[in-house]
Amino acid sequence: MRRAVYPGSFDPVTLGHLDIIGRAARLVDELIVGVLVNSAKTPLFSVEERVSMLAEVTKDIPNVRVEAFSGLSVDFAKECSARMIVRGLRAITDFEYELQMAQTNRIMAEDIDTLFLTTNLKYAYLSSTTVKEVAFYGGDISHFVPETVIGPVFRRMAERKQKGKF
Ligand code: PNS
Repeated sequence: MRRAVYPGSFDPVTLGHLDIIGRAARLVDELIVGVLVNSAKTPLFSVEERVSMLAEVTKDIPNVRVEAFSGLSVDFAKECSARMIVRGLRAITDFEYELQMAQTNRIMAEDIDTLFLTTNLKYAYLSSTTVKEVAFYGGDISHFVPETVIGPVFRRMAERKQKGKF
């Protein structure tokens, strides 16, 4: 059984993430998307919301499941009995951070490899942060996120603005 994990924040999931998920899923028997419970950042969406949005947008890919995780990605991979960590590489700016993470992970778990997939050029400069910024100013995010994610992003932005949290 060839199993991989794809860890990330997914706050929110973008079309770039979805592209990586679809392509990685074709390379393995099972792909487990791991949503990081990240206490250091204040995410727009709770981990449960992020898991649920990802589960919705990947529901037609039978060998993908979505789980929340906390702690190290290599420990999550081990818990899932996965030997691969998938990461998307958008542009050269990602490279240093990703290489540092992959090398650190390799020292911690030498039997787990990081598999880098280059992001579709269409999404090379897309990030969850960009999506949030565009949405904050009322811009069109339909080219950046799956359709089911658009409403939740604008609703949450409106709530946050109302509470004066921006
Ligand atoms: O979507 P992101 O925010 O780029 O994903 C980053 C993520 C979740 C893959 C990374 O921060 C991570 O693996 N965090 C868990 C802690 C860990 O394992 N760090 C790697 C050692 S440097």
